[in-house]
Amino acid sequence: MRVDRFLSNLPRFNRKQVRLLLVEKRVRVDGTIVSDPHAEVLEFSRVEVDDEVLQLGKPARYFMLHKPPGCVSATRDPQHPTVLDLIHEPDKNDLHIAGRLDFNTTGLMLITNDGSWSRRLTQPQTKLPKVYYVETEQDITADYAITFAKGLYFAFEDLITQPAELVVLGAKSARLSIVEGRYHQVKRMFGHFDNKVLRLHRERMGPLLLDDALKPGEYRPLSVEEIRLI
Ligand code: URA
Repeated sequence: MRVDRFLSNLPRFNRKQVRLLLVEKRVRVDGTIVSDPHAEVLEFSRVEVDDEVLQLGKPARYFMLHKPPGCVSATRDPQHPTVLDLIHEPDKNDLHIAGRLDFNTTGLMLITNDGSWSRRLTQPQTKLPKVYYVETEQDITADYAITFAKGLYFAFEDLITQPAELVVLGAKSARLSIVEGRYHQVKRMFGHFDNKVLRLHRERMGPLLLDDALKPGEYRPLSVEEIRLI
């Protein structure tokens, strides 16, 4: 939200007062004086006017998890372990998953409390590739790559999938890169050829690669550089 809107939403300031506060350089966001009314205020920002704290801000948090098979991409589940059960952090109830995986899918999962960061990562408009290693029941033939590049019709959503890139690695294995994350998307794409996906592993989301050092079930915080890449 813009800082001028943030301030004028408070009952104590009208728009004229907000303009003055900014011109008089009395507003600080995360310790820096701001006079630009367009400057951004996030839920994580500390906002002060003179010496008074108007919003404390909270730490933004970002983790990379190596999802093991047999756990649900949800914050709660009555029957099965969830990925959040693997995270041992304070305030973990504020965290959400950026891009779910199916119960038996493994690999890179990103978890954060920053909604705009996770939207940038997952929305199809940003076209960040999600890269999967796939093993199938039947052979993968040359026509798969052509069909996936053209896009497939998904009747339930009534849409054509965005162009996807398939690199065949072996008779029954491939690497697939997609820019969206429709429900069971990869399985449905191979399902078009009546070919069942037996193993599915997410290796990458945009510029973020699953860390080799993480064993299934382990996680680590993202570095500042990794966070900034999104
Ligand atoms: N596509 C699927 O079908 N399943 C996943 O878990 C991820 C992508």
